[in-house]
Amino acid sequence: MNILRCENVTKTYQLGQSEVKALDGLNLAIEKGKLTVIVGASGSGKSTLLHMLGGVDRPTSGKIWIEDTDISTLSEKQLSVFRRRKVGLIYQFYNLIPTLDVKQNILLPLLLDGQKPEEESFRELSDTLGLSDRLSHLPSQLSGGQQQRAAIGRALIYRPAVLLADEPTGNLDRKNSEEILALLKLSNKRYHQTIVLITHDERIALEADRVITIEDGRILQDSRQSGGEWRV
Ligand SMILES: Nc1ncnc2c1ncn2[C@@H]1O[C@H](COP(=O)(O)OP(=O)(O)OP(=O)(O)O)[C@@H](O)[C@H]1O
Ligand SMILES: [Mg+2]
Repeated sequence: MNILRCENVTKTYQLGQSEVKALDGLNLAIEKGKLTVIVGASGSGKSTLLHMLGGVDRPTSGKIWIEDTDISTLSEKQLSVFRRRKVGLIYQFYNLIPTLDVKQNILLPLLLDGQKPEEESFRELSDTLGLSDRLSHLPSQLSGGQQQRAAIGRALIYRPAVLLADEPTGNLDRKNSEEILALLKLSNKRYHQTIVLITHDERIALEADRVITIEDGRILQDSRQSGGEWRV
């Protein structure tokens, strides 16, 4: 089953007199429960694609479905609520709220919806994240790896349809990168969390179910792995 789909998506940025075509008629379907990696040179359109897929920004033309919802039919307000519930986003720089502690940061999507967190599942998540003894720390009182784990917690708290990660290990040393990757893989295996991840790290790409290479706003290559065998 496809959980995320885009059809003929283009994105053109207007910069003064000149136009930048960041996405050029892109078609893509992401299967539920898979770990999909997006690679490509700097400026090829990876982040732009991720933003379109997550409804962070709207395409110039084309359509995007998250589960069965054509997100172009949603108003800005509907889209922001939809996104909060259905899309988890992780960035290279963690984007935590500096004045909120770890627990509040992780629970933020629920709190914004006026929902009460379930203590039991929150405890399980914070244990998995390895943050149980850091819940009352502010982001500035955490290491980079811990901040990214808190950001992952916030992205996962709603059990979103899809987790979108833009170079989540780009700012971390090798050990922390490996821990973050292990955590993402755990959520993929244990909770069947669908993940789309942009990375420059070939080791991560090798462990994915699928690797999509983007060039000049188009898909250059699309390879899938099963049982250690890759096919294009
Ligand atoms: N807000 C913007 N205004 C104008 N041009 C933009 C904007 N955002 C991105 N671009 C351009 O669109 C193209 C794709 O950018 P994008 O950020 O998607 O690349 P990327 O593949 O994520 O690169 P990187 O690996 O460096 O993060 C680039 O040429 C970039 O300069
Ligand atoms: Mg980018």
